Amino acid sequence: MSNSSSQVITCKGAVCWGIGEGVKVEDIQVDPPKATEVRVKMLCASVCHTDIFATQGYIHANYPQVLGHEGIGVVESKGEEVKNVEVGDVVIPLYISECGECEVCIKGKTNLCMKYPIRLSGLMPDDTSRITVRGHKAYHLMSCATWCEYMVVDANYILKVDPAIDAAHGSFISCGFSTGFGAAWKEAMVEQGSSVAIFGLGTVGLGAVSAAKLMGATKIIGIDINEKKREKGEAFGMTDFINPDKLSDKPLSQQVKELSGEMGVDYSIECTGVPSLLNEAMESTKVGVGKTVVVGAGAESVQLSYATILYGRTLKGSVFGGIKPISDLPFIAHKCHTKEIPVDELLTHEILLEDISKAFELMRYPDCVKVLLKM
Ligand SMILES: NC(=O)c1ccc[n+]([C@@H]2O[C@H](COP(=O)([O-])OP(=O)(O)OC[C@H]3O[C@@H](n4cnc5c(N)ncnc54)[C@H](O)[C@@H]3O)[C@@H](O)[C@H]2O)c1
Ligand SMILES: [Zn+2]
Ligand SMILES: [Zn+2]
Repeated sequence: MSNSSSQVITCKGAVCWGIGEGVKVEDIQVDPPKATEVRVKMLCASVCHTDIFATQGYIHANYPQVLGHEGIGVVESKGEEVKNVEVGDVVIPLYISECGECEVCIKGKTNLCMKYPIRLSGLMPDDTSRITVRGHKAYHLMSCATWCEYMVVDANYILKVDPAIDAAHGSFISCGFSTGFGAAWKEAMVEQGSSVAIFGLGTVGLGAVSAAKLMGATKIIGIDINEKKREKGEAFGMTDFINPDKLSDKPLSQQVKELSGEMGVDYSIECTGVPSLLNEAMESTKVGVGKTVVVGAGAESVQLSYATILYGRTLKGSVFGGIKPISDLPFIAHKCHTKEIPVDELLTHEILLEDISKAFELMRYPDCVKVLLKM
């Protein structure tokens, strides 16, 4: 392997060759960074449910694609115009960024920055690629491609972090956990004494539980068909658990209402991507004031009942839970560092990059929350 900063590096990366093809480790060539870019040597990465969607053509259908959008690494080299980081800095690659200058960033109502949008083409901002595999141009997963030993990213899509950060924490907060956390913190804006129902207790849902607890919610109802998620939910602050497979034939929303004084909850957060649960999530909230945030993703359509939404409820969709990476991620990182967020509870499996093909299988294990990829 070459490590000269001006040369192409040949290293290992996890590649998906097409829809339904799964993922395999290949030798990939990673170009040196151009003027506004950095090349990052990955320390570790992790698996988010959205990576599974990436093998199904969701996000974009450009292949071969180097997967992975959660991870943390060290800047190996940088282009001459890069000012925000130095070689050796520890960074988290981002799929959504924050310029601080566009109308969206100034008004602050959403995290969908106009200047640095999500790279849905899987290419760099100049519409080219820095990765080659078996002679083919390869695509990134959005602006990332974290499941490889080295990746090139535009310097505007990275967050410099404290080098003392636990690498696994850094990786876990780079997508799933922060998405759920932000859904409760930035989108629902859960307040002291409120009630929240969280549908799905994967990494995203557990992030939502964690933020609800930190914001002072007193009733935090977790819902999951996997009984093993009861214990995980409790570790992050869940007060009640519903396993829909175990309970009566009453609608889920009715079960939530019975646990929250019949009126329903103030907020619900949909973190499964199961279409039928969206209406239930909304129906679980109080008439007139209830707010539902949807972060679970899917390719299917959803059906909503007119009555549910006409009774004054609000539905809000969100990418990355409304988190502005530069402004908000350091807060979450700090709470993980001080153990106010028990983020270590997420780590259930560790594998080497070369064993990546096992990752999706592990995700189906009932006790699996987060798979950490070691480089
Ligand atoms: N909006 C965003 O920016 C964003 C970011 C990250 C992930 N996501 C999406 O969020 C969702 C969750 O991601 P994750 O990584 O936590 O996934 P995950 O697979 O780890 O967790 C999903 C959880 O939902 C539970 N579940 C599945 N079907 C259910 C049902 N019918 N009723 C109750 N519980 C059910 C599962 O048992 C599991 O615990 C995915 O759809 C993912 O693509 C969205
Ligand atoms: Zn902006
Ligand atoms: Zn993700």
